[in-house]
Amino acid sequence: MKKIVFLTGAGMSVESGFKTFRGSDGLWEDYPVEQVATHEALENDPALVINFYNRLRKKLFASQPNEGHKLISALEKDYDVTVITQNVDDLHERGGSSHVIHLHGELKKMCSSADAYNPDYIETLTEDNWEVIPGTKAKDGSMLRPFIVFFGEAVPMIEEAAREVSQADLFVIVGTSLNVYPAAGLVRYVPIGAPIYLIDPNEVTQGKKCDVTVIRKGATEGLQELFASIKP
Ligand code: OAD
Repeated sequence: MKKIVFLTGAGMSVESGFKTFRGSDGLWEDYPVEQVATHEALENDPALVINFYNRLRKKLFASQPNEGHKLISALEKDYDVTVITQNVDDLHERGGSSHVIHLHGELKKMCSSADAYNPDYIETLTEDNWEVIPGTKAKDGSMLRPFIVFFGEAVPMIEEAAREVSQADLFVIVGTSLNVYPAAGLVRYVPIGAPIYLIDPNEVTQGKKCDVTVIRKGATEGLQELFASIKP
């Protein structure tokens, strides 16, 4: 079975009603990164940070995977599919994908601020229990924090992601501006000779050094076009 590896970003969830981060109407315009997505922000104003992710989480529970998510999972019939996502939503999983690697964490999870990756302290929130009251403690007594990789923090899943990319027969990038490393550097692990596609309705100016076929369309339309051309 041939292996297709996807790298997805915020553009993948636009058709599910989510905003991207950068650009004129991006999320970081309303909520500057340094106020809601850094370790310093969490220490300086935990309530602001916790409530920012509370709002996103509430929205996530009200959202649905889009056609693009479903197209990717449908490929599992004919291919070995891995999805590496920078998104903290769970729309790939709910769209049916069975192998998803989250590089930047997961919105539905909370963890210990002292020991973030200790599974004993990771809590998964549900639709009826999506809101975290600022100041709530994790089971180890430290502050409960969003299970999100903040800027400046290590990205523990990057090694597993790089291993997957290095085995790809086809690499497909969807809806990411490729501004954020180390995620954007994954393209360097694609084996020589494996085709690389990039689907995005706007011009992506970063990461142009390798040989990429650009499909300048939204996620669903772009994926339909690509899959029609690679039918097994
Ligand atoms: P960006 O906001 O930087 O880029 C989103 C990309 O999606 C842009 O290139 C858009 O042109 C494209 N796009 C817009 N609509 C689309 C559609 N309908 N279909 C497909 N693509 C579309 O978001 P990311 O690259 O995902 O990190 O950002 C990377 C990381 O930066 C995020 O994971 C987040 C952010 O800070 C954390 O929160 C840790």
